[in-house]
Amino acid sequence: MKIHKYDTVIVGAGGAGMRAAIESTKRSRTAVLTKLYPTRSHTGAAQGGMAAALANVEEDNWEWHTFDTIKGGDYLVDQDAAEILAKEAIDSVLDLEKMGLPFNRTPDGTIDQRRFGGHSRNHGEAPVRRSCYAADRTGHMILQTLYQNCVKEGVEFFNEFYVLDQLIVEVDGVKKSAGVVAYELATGEIHVFQAKAVIYASGGTGKFFKVTSNAHTLTGDGQAACYRRGIPLEDMEFFQFHPTGIWRMGILLTEGARGEGGILRNKDGERFMEKYAPVMKDLASRDVVSRSIYTEIREGRGCGPEGDHVYLDLTHLPPEQLDAKLPDITEFARTYLGIEPYTDPIPIQPTAHYAMGGIPTNVEGEVLADNTTVVPGLYAAGEVACVSVHGANRLGTNSLLDINVFGRRAGIAAAEYSHTADYVELPENPASLVEELVERLRDSTGTERVAVIRNELQECMDANVMVFRTEQTIKTAVEKIAELRERYRNVSIQDKGRRFNTDLLEAIELGNLLDLAEVMATSALARKESRGGHYREDFPNRDDVNFMRHTMAYREVGDDGTETIRLDYKPVVQTRYQPMERKY
Ligand code: FUM
Repeated sequence: MKIHKYDTVIVGAGGAGMRAAIESTKRSRTAVLTKLYPTRSHTGAAQGGMAAALANVEEDNWEWHTFDTIKGGDYLVDQDAAEILAKEAIDSVLDLEKMGLPFNRTPDGTIDQRRFGGHSRNHGEAPVRRSCYAADRTGHMILQTLYQNCVKEGVEFFNEFYVLDQLIVEVDGVKKSAGVVAYELATGEIHVFQAKAVIYASGGTGKFFKVTSNAHTLTGDGQAACYRRGIPLEDMEFFQFHPTGIWRMGILLTEGARGEGGILRNKDGERFMEKYAPVMKDLASRDVVSRSIYTEIREGRGCGPEGDHVYLDLTHLPPEQLDAKLPDITEFARTYLGIEPYTDPIPIQPTAHYAMGGIPTNVEGEVLADNTTVVPGLYAAGEVACVSVHGANRLGTNSLLDINVFGRRAGIAAAEYSHTADYVELPENPASLVEELVERLRDSTGTERVAVIRNELQECMDANVMVFRTEQTIKTAVEKIAELRERYRNVSIQDKGRRFNTDLLEAIELGNLLDLAEVMATSALARKESRGGHYREDFPNRDDVNFMRHTMAYREVGDDGTETIRLDYKPVVQTRYQPMERKY
């Protein structure tokens, strides 16, 4: 076991992690631990843009953006945080431009902007052009730009280091972060990173679904490490299904395609979104569009022999526009489906895309141990966190914005904290939990296989806690997850070696997914209303009287070692926007 000492440790090198690292490295000795090489992080898969009310191509302002974000989140958004997000969006985009990000340009040389779902002029009058973009590779460009700037700032990366445990130590009755424990893929060695401040920026949990836009690496490692050490998880029942994944594969086809004028059609060629969202049409919020697609499919208007998808039609757009603005997704259609998007519509279906919930934080990125108590030295930003700026449903392009605004804030706050704080003394054997986990899996002779359990989990999640849910489907999921967690205790791996043991790490990642799926389904069962991405067919209306509140899920362990989930609730922060009926 090796011990390292840094002022600040950042877990994850996607957009939030690297944006934090740029700030933190300027102010404190910082290490970034990442399970991938930084430029392979999932931010690189984000396509359509980053929202900011620059008003470069039409009238806009940050207050309209704030309102759209709150309405988009079905009023579960903390409004103080949404105001910060929308206000700081403008400088965030300009910071990236100064760092060298090659945004698409208007003819007069300013950053071009396009339409995106749920972003509107004057509180819902019509779609507005608010998304700043680099073709359909905006996330990729952000990742490359941030990485180059990290190199320039001298950020210290530990690549292919898997953080498996968060150290929390009680000092004078206060629980504080002491550092993290990581497993090095190349050697199998365990490393303890003692740090005054730790920032989690390790991304989402999408791999508990089968049809998903998420990479294989999105296994909720940061959420799981914190949750096991007593940190609650907020609003985990809210998971976003992006309307346009490639049929059956789930690969993302950006909403920017509809921003450029693409249209969703059913088997009769009807532009069905006109029925469900008369003003915003195909650019309604994602929860609304995904439900509309499945309503068309359920009512027999789906396309293909099995009627299980609809079409994204780009055929009326000039090929030059597709080539200039949507080069990647049109190529995906050719490569994965053999379809020429100039002439043929693309089969699509909703795909599991984004976790609105996560580790609770305040607007400085400080992690909360309950509704109000900060855990000194512990921070989180990006998809791993819940600020909450996305509430019950995130607007497209607000995630690239979130990682930049709150990544920056967390980086500054953590580094400043590390100037004033002392190191927390490490526990006697800081790596014991990770050592036991690794040895147990290596030595196991159990009969269960990781791939089998993961597959059953993903199929169960797709079938039961997807776009439409009922008490019965969620209970089915809860029971199945419990069965899988039991079977997971008997899982074994084939590779018993130390070097590059991805078999071992996949087993650990599966454990994380199972824990988080259980929290997700348990939180969903208790929320007897429909709001944003959580749609209960047995409770089809939003219930502000009983459920205008954030879910806080705590792991509790009894004296006999039995684990249970305790649910509590936290008020939503409302500033100036009263909840209204949500229409698009
Ligand atoms: O559709 C997209 O390009 C995805 C963007 C997002 O999730 O923000």
